[in-house]
Amino acid sequence: MKKLIKNVRIINEGQQIEGDLLIVNDRIEKIGGIIESREAQEVDGKGNYLLPGVIDDQVHFREPGLTHKADIESESRAAVAGGTTTFMEMPNTKPAALTQEELEKKYAKASQVSPANYSFFMGASNENIEHVLKTNEKTVCGVKIFMGSSTGNMLVDDEKTLENLFSKVPMLIATHCEDEMTIRRNTEEYVRKYGDKIPFSAHPEIRSVEACYKSSSLAVRMAKKYDTRLHILHISTAEELDLFTNEIPLAEKRITSEVCVHHLYFDADDYETLGSKVKCNPAVKEARHKKALMEALLDDRLDIIATDHAPHTLEEKQGLYMKAPSGLPLVQHSLNMMLDFYQQGVIGLEKVVEKMSHAPAVCFEIQDRGYVREGYYADLVLVDMDSEWTVSKENVRFKCGWSPLEGKTFHNKVLKTFVNGFKAYSNGEVNANQKGYRLSFNR
Ligand code: DOR
Repeated sequence: MKKLIKNVRIINEGQQIEGDLLIVNDRIEKIGGIIESREAQEVDGKGNYLLPGVIDDQVHFREPGLTHKADIESESRAAVAGGTTTFMEMPNTKPAALTQEELEKKYAKASQVSPANYSFFMGASNENIEHVLKTNEKTVCGVKIFMGSSTGNMLVDDEKTLENLFSKVPMLIATHCEDEMTIRRNTEEYVRKYGDKIPFSAHPEIRSVEACYKSSSLAVRMAKKYDTRLHILHISTAEELDLFTNEIPLAEKRITSEVCVHHLYFDADDYETLGSKVKCNPAVKEARHKKALMEALLDDRLDIIATDHAPHTLEEKQGLYMKAPSGLPLVQHSLNMMLDFYQQGVIGLEKVVEKMSHAPAVCFEIQDRGYVREGYYADLVLVDMDSEWTVSKENVRFKCGWSPLEGKTFHNKVLKTFVNGFKAYSNGEVNANQKGYRLSFNR
C-alpha cells in the first residue's frame, strides 16, 4: 500500500518545501526531493498545496439520541470532505456521556462509521465525579465541563463540584465558560422588555461579555489554584484575552485556549441578515471582538482553532429567539474559511497550519499526528489555492442540510484528504471503506 504524491508544495512547521511525499501503509515514509517508487500509486500534486490534516477539538455530532440533527457517520464524512482528518466530540448527546459505558459506546460507533480519526470527551455533571475519575487519559482526549448551560442539560454550577473537579481530575479539562447567573439576569430583563419577541441581535447582550469574562476568569483562577490542565473553549471576547499568555511555549502551558472560526468570521451585524443561523453560545459579538481575537491568534495568546460544529435542523432554527437552539454547522468549511483569511492577507499560511493542525496535536499531546513528518500517520490534505466555488445547499454535506455560509464564494478548494494513508475524500467523493483510528495520547 504505497502512495506517492508528486511535485507538491508542502506546508509544515513554518516552512514551505516543494517535492514528493511517499506514504507506505498508514504512515509517511519519506518527504521531499524527487522520490521514485515503482509500485506506488501516484497522485499529481503539481500546482497544489499539501497540508497536515485539520484536527478539530470541538464538534457536536449528536449521536446518540439527537440523530435527527446529525450523526457520527454523516458529520465525519463532511469533516473529511473539508480537510479535517481528526475530530474530538462533545459529551452533550442523549444520553450524555457521563459514564464510561456511555462514552465507550460512542467510540464503538465511530470505529464502525467514521472515515476520520476520533476521540470523545468524557462529560462532567454535578453528580458524576466518580465516573469522571475513571477516564483513561491515554485514550480519551479530555473531560468537558459546561460552566454555562447550552444545548443539553449538562451545566456544572455547583462551586464545590467545580473545585472538586479542578483539584482532582489529573487530565485535560476543557470548559465552556459563560456565567449562568449573568445570563439569567440578562434574559429576564429582555423578556420584560420584549416578551417573546426578543430580537436575535440581543443575543450578545444576553450572553454578554461580562458573562464570558466572569466564568473564564473563574476557571483560570481555579486552574492556577490547583495547577489543573485547563483548556478554555471558544473564547469570544477581547476582554478574556488578558487571561492568556504568549510568553511560554504551547507545550509548557497549563492553561490553553481555543478560538472558533465563526467568532473570527461573523460579527453582531450578521444577526440582521442571518438571525438564528448565527445564534450560538458563546454569542457572536461586536466587530471589535473578532478583530481582537484574530490579533491574539496571530500573537499566540490564543492557541488553537476549532469549529464547535453544532448542527440543528432548519426547522428548529426557525423558532422565536427563546426557542431557537444555539449552534452552527461548520466542520466542512473551517479550512476554507481560514485559507480565505490567508488569501485576504490576514494570516500566513504556515500560521493556519500551526493553529489548525500542529497546535491541537501539541495541546492534547496526540500521538504521531498534526505534522507532516516521516514516521507520523499520513493525515494530509491536498488543496487547490486557485479554484472558485460557492457554498450552497447542494454541496453542504451535513445531515441538517444547511450552512450559515451559503452564498459565500471561496477561492480555495480541498481536492483530496488522506486519513492514515487512505484516500478518504477525492474530487467530490467521500470514500469511507476504511475507518479512522481512535486517538492515543502521549501523557
Ligand atoms: O452554540 C452552541 N451549541 N454552543 C455550545 O456550547 C453547544 C452547542 C450545541 O451543542 O448545540
